[in-house]
Amino acid sequence: MKTVTSEEMNQQFSYAEQVKHLACAGGKTPKALVITYGCQQNENDSERIRGMLAQMGYDFTEEKEEADLILYNTCAVREGAEQRVLGNVGALVHEKRRRPNLLIGICGCMMQQEHMAKTIKQKYRHVSFVFGTHTLHKFPQILWRALSEEQTVISVEQSDGVICEEVPVRREEGPKAWVSIMYGCNNFCTYCIVPYVRGRERSRQPEKVLVEIRELVKTGVTEITLLGQNVNAYGKDLPEDIDFADLLYQINQIEGLKRIRFMTSHPKDMSQKLIDTMAVCDKVMPQLHLPFQAGSDRILEKMNRRYTQEQYLDLVRRVREKMPDIALTTDIIVGFPNETKEDFEETIKVLKAVRFDSVFSFIYSKRQGTPAAVMEDAISDSEKHENFDRLLEVQNQISREINDACFGKTFELLVEGESKTDENMLTGRTPGGKIVNFPKEEGIKTGDYVNVTVTKTNTWSLLGEICRD
Ligand code: 5AD
Ligand code: SF4
Repeated sequence: MKTVTSEEMNQQFSYAEQVKHLACAGGKTPKALVITYGCQQNENDSERIRGMLAQMGYDFTEEKEEADLILYNTCAVREGAEQRVLGNVGALVHEKRRRPNLLIGICGCMMQQEHMAKTIKQKYRHVSFVFGTHTLHKFPQILWRALSEEQTVISVEQSDGVICEEVPVRREEGPKAWVSIMYGCNNFCTYCIVPYVRGRERSRQPEKVLVEIRELVKTGVTEITLLGQNVNAYGKDLPEDIDFADLLYQINQIEGLKRIRFMTSHPKDMSQKLIDTMAVCDKVMPQLHLPFQAGSDRILEKMNRRYTQEQYLDLVRRVREKMPDIALTTDIIVGFPNETKEDFEETIKVLKAVRFDSVFSFIYSKRQGTPAAVMEDAISDSEKHENFDRLLEVQNQISREINDACFGKTFELLVEGESKTDENMLTGRTPGGKIVNFPKEEGIKTGDYVNVTVTKTNTWSLLGEICRD
């Protein structure tokens, strides 16, 4: 696996200096707005983009009108997100006309697709620069070129991906942080664009991960979420004999760290060793995101998921055997090519058998270049939507019942801040990851751990009061 060398990074640091010189001319502090679509990996990439921007003298804003640089970090998993980006970028043409010095950039998974980079170059001439996922660490050089050249700068390299440890990260302050432990995916599920835009699986060295977490703990972070498209494949590509369970075990020893979460797990790679390790590591939270995608074995095979419904249900049984209170969440795709009513009923069967705490469901979206994109599909859109609505209905009922069962129970919450909907309330998460809102109280602040008793339940959230016992 190609690791970006210190030499290459030093080159980027000197570009960063030059950008600073250009962008901060006359003592001005330029402002940047970074807009992120998609998954937590993308959020984590945006934290690095902000880290590089800060290094280049930029400050940050949430207002487009105030920004000297607007950068979209995009997602390619479904068409809807792509359309939204194109719409938003298209709408910026007026702002660019009003302020010709405004820099507009697009990066991330959507740009790693050749046809998309081409579309931008041809049809969105007001865009100043475009880069894919594999050239993230070259952002200073790309920005320097965008500031010094007239035409659109395009930096989209086709490769298996790199690992770069030296990019500065700028995180939001708070008690929680995301830590990427691996990048890319080797699974090639037939509907999914990720392996094409994020490259092959590559794991960070365990020492780098441990050092990063220890540093975070020093700054007050007590909860981390380990990220990877398939964390269960961690270590397979490393020379040392280490797997994800070993890494979890080591992270669990870090003093001062209180909570560990991780995502995403592929059912085919979830070992009994990992289940046993989760069960004995006190800091690993009782929460597991385990996408099953479809209930029908016929569809699972066409998706190239490499497990059957029976194997999935058996895995869930083994997880619950060791961790009876674990909160389970999943991803489901409705309307994969030629998914019939009978196939779909198998998905409902799994929903009812497992009773997930919550479900992320998506209508299948055709992705150019994936095997499923050329599969025959005789199912109408209206049938897919009908199935989708039915899935929501079944799951809402289950989520509601699971939340109702929390009534009167007391949970330890990590306080995350003020509630988004009520300034008199604070919000926090239970060990299982459920959101609980509770009234503000003197002396309780973000980052604290408090015990809260649930006094009211909703389908999506819980209300509680501080427990004094
Ligand atoms: N269409 C719809 N949903 C998709 N996902 C991945 N690819 C597609 C697609 N082409 C979903 C899967 C995955 C989640 C992150 O996105 O459920 O687990
Ligand atoms: Fe996509 Fe499958 Fe890889 Fe997940 S495991 S990122 S769904 S190819």
